[in-house]
Amino acid sequence: MKNIKEKIIEVKNLKKNFKISKRMNGLPGHIANLFKPKYEVKEAVKGIDFEIYEGECVGFIGANGAGKSTTIKMLSGILYPDSGCINVMGFEPHKDRKKYVANIGVVFGQKSQLSWDLPVIDSFELLKNIYKIPSDVYKKNLDEFMELLDMSNFINQPVRQLSLGQRMRADIAASLLHSPKLVFFDEPTIGLDVVAKEKIREFVRYMNKEKKVTFIFTTHDMQDIAKTCERIIIIDKGSKMYDGSVKELVDKYGGSVKLAIEIKDVLVDEEYIKLLKQSLENQFIDCEFTIEDKKNNIVEIMFENKTLSSVQVTTFLAEKFTLKDFRISDIDIEEIVRKIYEGGITL
Ligand SMILES: Nc1ncnc2c1ncn2[C@@H]1O[C@H](COP(=O)(O)OP(=O)(O)OP(=O)(O)O)[C@@H](O)[C@H]1O
Ligand SMILES: [Mg+2]
Repeated sequence: MKNIKEKIIEVKNLKKNFKISKRMNGLPGHIANLFKPKYEVKEAVKGIDFEIYEGECVGFIGANGAGKSTTIKMLSGILYPDSGCINVMGFEPHKDRKKYVANIGVVFGQKSQLSWDLPVIDSFELLKNIYKIPSDVYKKNLDEFMELLDMSNFINQPVRQLSLGQRMRADIAASLLHSPKLVFFDEPTIGLDVVAKEKIREFVRYMNKEKKVTFIFTTHDMQDIAKTCERIIIIDKGSKMYDGSVKELVDKYGGSVKLAIEIKDVLVDEEYIKLLKQSLENQFIDCEFTIEDKKNNIVEIMFENKTLSSVQVTTFLAEKFTLKDFRISDIDIEEIVRKIYEGGITL
């Protein structure tokens, strides 16, 4: 039998606008605000399409204000779309909200869904009742999450006393107590230290690979993506820019090398950089070089490594210029994404 994965999300031409009131200043402005309020329309999501299949772990990324949270809110049924369709496991999220939420898990990293004054465990018990989680399932999940997310030392503390990392772990556990097949995380690692981030990544990996939970999450940390996702969707100003594998993106756009060199004895200025670029381009005729002055006599040289190796370039530089030091690094996903956001890479 063929192993065909089930499509669990289908989004078509999804749109959402926000009406923002334009307030005018001064007394005439205040009067006008009262009698003739003016509005500006912000197109937050401008017609996005995508499909998500069972068992995927998809990173949803884009610059601040790109429309990620708005999309996640529509997918989880919190916001009504203006137009387009969303089908999640046969549900239309905003219409079937009550039944729908029993099938999904949601975490908004910026805002806890737990009761501020209750001990974490009491919030969990509340969720057990709300979702009518059978006692054996609840106990099994709770025991497992307690261990995986290392929650035993704060489970009896009220949420308001928790550190951000503890609160995030409690929110993540809460979102999964009813064993949903699909979860939406909006910035689950925001503001966390490297160790806490790694713990959450490990947990996501485990739930995805072992428990077959489908994840869609937003993040600004490209390490979250590199370590957990095979697929990313990039959105920019409300439109989808890229939807595909992380590996393909890196293979296609990360085929360049970054070389940092520190130059000895002479002062590096604009003229010097021009000279450096010229001599590299004279030597390696078919290759294009991008050179950035990093100050303190450190220069960053970037080039495609398809035709040229970093050894050839460094050997040439070492012969021609007086180098104090050099360092080679591949361009990673972070660099690619930064370039995409800045418009330097057109997908
Ligand atoms: N409730 C709202 N009322 C008015 N405008 C809104 C509202 N929510 C979002 N917006 C606007 O819609 C756009 C998209 O916002 P959204 O929160 O979806 O971005 P985001 O991609 O999640 O960004 P970030 O990375 O900063 O979280 C922004 O311009 C934002 O100002
Ligand atoms: Mg957001």
